[in-house]
Amino acid sequence: MMTTVEEPVGLDVDTLMAFVLRAVDEVGATLNAGLVVMGDELGYYRAMATGPTTPARLAHDTGTAETYAREWLAAQAAGGFVALDPVSGEYTLPPEHAVALTDEQSPAFLPGLFQLALGTLADTGRVVGAARAGGGLGWHEHGPDVHVGCERFFRPSYHAHLVSEWLPALDGVVERLERGARVADIGCGHGASTVIMAQAFPASTFVGSDYHAASIAHARRRAEEAGVADRVDFEVAPAQEFGGSGFDLVTTFDALHDMGDPVGAARHVRSAIADDGTWMVVEPMAGDSVHDNLTAVGRVYYGFSTLLCTPASLSQDVGLALGTQAGPARLRDVVTTGGFTRFAQVAQTPFNQVLEVRP
Ligand SMILES: C[S@@+](CC[C@H](N)C(=O)[O-])C[C@H]1O[C@@H](n2cnc3c(N)ncnc32)[C@H](O)[C@@H]1O
Repeated sequence: MMTTVEEPVGLDVDTLMAFVLRAVDEVGATLNAGLVVMGDELGYYRAMATGPTTPARLAHDTGTAETYAREWLAAQAAGGFVALDPVSGEYTLPPEHAVALTDEQSPAFLPGLFQLALGTLADTGRVVGAARAGGGLGWHEHGPDVHVGCERFFRPSYHAHLVSEWLPALDGVVERLERGARVADIGCGHGASTVIMAQAFPASTFVGSDYHAASIAHARRRAEEAGVADRVDFEVAPAQEFGGSGFDLVTTFDALHDMGDPVGAARHVRSAIADDGTWMVVEPMAGDSVHDNLTAVGRVYYGFSTLLCTPASLSQDVGLALGTQAGPARLRDVVTTGGFTRFAQVAQTPFNQVLEVRP
């Protein structure tokens, strides 16, 4: 029997082809996550930061196989990460790209974000299963690329902004830290923020906490390496139960939306903070409506929200699933329901908003 396939009426073939080609570009970008992690791990970018190279030279400089260096360089040139001189056959990493791809202290440093993305994508199948079953996937259930990538992505930004901009934006907090304050950093992960604050304010004491025991073990090592372990304690505890009371400053960096019960966390912070204390909540940059967040950064955050942060929240009791793009109005609602009365957005970067929350 003969069948005929009819083109749907009104289908614009040019629009279809334009979408397919744009999507193919995105497949290239998806594969580039693996290529950036490869370049970071094998030292390709660091070797290229010293000057133009060829596949043979790059392989020699990094002690790797030339065929991989050859294909990787071509892929990087096709994606515009490096430039190819068609006459000499040499590949160059522009100096601005070299900063973004090799300078681990720069707020422009990118490999941590790619490592986090790749580690997240590796667990896509488990998220698909959780979406079918209506369950979650805990932060602790992911591989080390998620935990290490997260630290490497956020640390440079905390290094650049936390002491110089974010803490000074809070009313009276720097003066208290200089005099000697008690600080709790909850959901501290590998402790990057805790250690940076401890280094800047030697008269103050700090307690970092996180429900993920492996992250806290990592944080303890970081504090020792930084020489601040005498003033920094770490504790394995969920945000609804961390120890201590009368804190002058409580901080939460990119963790509130990952929690199953952020309102319960807010209630506990209220009970643990001094009446004249401050809770600094750093959350992903976001506006209040989906429409506000349809940007390049919003797209990345919605991707992480779907595959990483929302499953993390759903894996815990309550499972509020705020998502990475909750926006200031929703966050205000969470902390005021938890017992706080004052709320202000006091600083922002392209990636983060800084909220001052007070009793
Ligand atoms: C995106 S990471 C941020 C880590 C760290 N604050 C940083 O900025 O690098 C989110 C962190 O929240 C922690 N977390 C999730 N739910 C938590 C809970 N209920 N109590 C305490 N920590 C929690 C995770 O273990 C993870 O370390």
